[in-house]
Amino acid sequence: MEIVKKVILTGHFGVGKSSLVKQFVFQKFSDQYLTTIGVKIDKKTVDIDGTSVKMMLWDIAGESNMIKVPKKYFMGAHGILYVFDATREETYQNIENDLFEINKSMRDTPFVVLANKADLIDEKLAETLKTKINVPFRLTSAKSGDNVEASFIELAKNML
Ligand code: GTP
Ligand code: MG
Repeated sequence: MEIVKKVILTGHFGVGKSSLVKQFVFQKFSDQYLTTIGVKIDKKTVDIDGTSVKMMLWDIAGESNMIKVPKKYFMGAHGILYVFDATREETYQNIENDLFEINKSMRDTPFVVLANKADLIDEKLAETLKTKINVPFRLTSAKSGDNVEASFIELAKNML
């Protein structure tokens, strides 16, 4: 049995949304920054306890504020990955408002928050982030691949 789930990747500019998809789907990383225009859709099927879950990954253009994200992209979504950049405070200082805004159109939709670019921060900053950000998040690195697959799989499980 295969089930299809639509997943949205959202967050500020340049936080690594496209890089996370590239790492998850193709096990590749590039230092080049090519900003996403509109939306790019990739897919990957994962096995969750014997169920094939085809994840349709909607990698949407970054926005400095979730109010600006066109709501049409969220229609019919089953799960959300909200990504911020662990090295840039402006990408998470407004996180609670951003998540509130998403929740307005996506009530009861499972979401996972990712603090990406973990390869660029040290233990001390990682600890500081936990005290600053009042939302559970997972540290990922699209560059090293650390925690990337596990994070997508966690979301896949939450969507079943
Ligand atoms: P927009 O499409 O503009 O919203 O950006 P995005 O969120 O898709 O970011 P993208 O994946 O294009 O990455 C932006 C830049 O950050 C690129 O130069 C990537 O190489 C770099 N980058 C992304 N993830 C990581 C990471 O985990 N570690 C490091 N060191 N660099 C990263
Ligand atoms: Mg992108």
